[in-house]
Amino acid sequence: MQEIIRLLEEKRAQARLGGGQKRIDAQHGKGKLTARERLELLLDEGSFEEWDMFVEHRCADFGMQDSKTPGDGVVTGYGTINGRLVFVFSQDFTVFGGSLSEAHAEKICKIMDQAMKVGAPVIGLNDSGGARIQEGVASLGGYAEVFQRNVMASGVVPQISMIMGPCAGGAVYSPAMTDFIFMVKDSSYMFVTGPDVVKTVTHEVVTAEELGGAVTHTSKSGVADLAFEDDVQALLQLRRFMDFVPASNREEPPVRPTSDPSDRPDWSLDTLIPDNPNKPYDMKELITKVVDEGDFFEIQPEFAKNILIGFGRFEGRTVGIVANQPMVLAGCLDIDSSRKAARFVRFCDAFNIPLVTFVDVPGFMPGTTQEYGGIIKHGAKLLYAYAEATVPKVTVITRKAYGGAYDVMSSKHLRGDVNYAWPTAEIAVMGPKGAVEIIFRGDIGDEKKIAERTEEYRQKFANPFVAGSRGYIDDVIMPHNTRKRICRSLAMLRDKQLENPWRKHGNIPL
Ligand code: HXC
Repeated sequence: MQEIIRLLEEKRAQARLGGGQKRIDAQHGKGKLTARERLELLLDEGSFEEWDMFVEHRCADFGMQDSKTPGDGVVTGYGTINGRLVFVFSQDFTVFGGSLSEAHAEKICKIMDQAMKVGAPVIGLNDSGGARIQEGVASLGGYAEVFQRNVMASGVVPQISMIMGPCAGGAVYSPAMTDFIFMVKDSSYMFVTGPDVVKTVTHEVVTAEELGGAVTHTSKSGVADLAFEDDVQALLQLRRFMDFVPASNREEPPVRPTSDPSDRPDWSLDTLIPDNPNKPYDMKELITKVVDEGDFFEIQPEFAKNILIGFGRFEGRTVGIVANQPMVLAGCLDIDSSRKAARFVRFCDAFNIPLVTFVDVPGFMPGTTQEYGGIIKHGAKLLYAYAEATVPKVTVITRKAYGGAYDVMSSKHLRGDVNYAWPTAEIAVMGPKGAVEIIFRGDIGDEKKIAERTEEYRQKFANPFVAGSRGYIDDVIMPHNTRKRICRSLAMLRDKQLENPWRKHGNIPL
């Protein structure tokens, strides 16, 4: 028995050493943690249960039969984050560059299957040179097995990808199908083809960082949701993030007890809206002033900044927040902001997270760039997402709610449950100036008349009471009471029951 235990310990030690001390030192030299160090930081101390430590690849080509490492380049298993179960895989760059062999893929698939059976999130820590080149099509098959599971798990358990190293070729498509992608600055990148191929095919000269680094994907492409400074910050923030999300589509979001009173007024909100309707103000200020303890976990803060999305809590319960940001492009809806918000709304709806929407939107962005880029279809994504969402929906119009954008932003007509307006709300087809220039076209040139007509239009429509008279908004509320009114609405909606008609699946405009 002692000999068997010794052999077991030896094998375990070998597996823990991955690709060897030299490669571990190289990993540290790049400012990166190893696969196991990352799991130690991510999971509650001592909670990690490792599976498949002794799995080895089965490749015999290119001398591979003599180079086997127990675990084969990925550490898999389950553990807890603040006491809540999660399944994890962490790719080990020290073993064949974390490349994905058939056996490596099987390990990932095993924990994904188990996560779906028990209803717990899957977190992937990606650090991989892509398909294990020596294995050829067996590796591609492995990827496809993972992809299939990503799709089956979508909307069933949350899937989160943390990109902590290279992620090239088909390897980007598994993260792309997960719910959130986080990246580490300067050490992670994602692209379909690397800089060398780009140079050959398109003659563009670009660095890996420019092509697919964390800054590129969180500010230009919108592929990734957040960029972190280093591995430690990334993993600690991931722990914070996981506190907001439910374990599966069968569960309610977690509740975190709070001492922040639900009826806490915030008097400064009464002066948040500037006198001049064309002057911006920071919508983020409103969000942080109304959520529990000012804790707002913003997603995609650097992309499509004209809309804000993220998680907060009211009375300890997670909500998804969507808000127009008047500071950027006057808060209008365009292609990027519509896509950004639509996907977030769908995540929240899939996982029973109520939606709180703050509206100050002058309309959709006009112009050829938007039209040629397909704003019609992209804007429709957000419309579709709100309309199909059955979770509790609470909306507060702070200022402008004009045109189609009024409809889109969780309006009453899209089954908004509680729709409030501040006294400063302007709910109409368009702003007074634009409206008068169309309906009183004949008066253009007569400045006095135009000014009179504009004022008349403003008096008549640039307020919340026309919508209020039709019941399109449920009440005009005092800004300082916004938190109280939202808390009460969400409490009233806690047992909301609403189902969409049966169908195989809808056909959201893509
Ligand atoms: C096997 C690999 C590997 C791979 C890296 N290694 N990628 N082994 N298959 N895909 C090995 C290297 O040989 C090296 O082994 C070790 O990992 C570390 O790699 P380095 O090159 O020394 O590291 P670095 O300089 O940091 O460069 C990392 C890298 C580079 C940028 C990822 O290794 C690279 O370009 N790899 C190939 C990437 C690639 O083309 N993958 C296939 C993509 S296609 P030693 O023994 O020297 O330490 C794809 C198709 C999937 O993924 C399709 C699914 C639909």
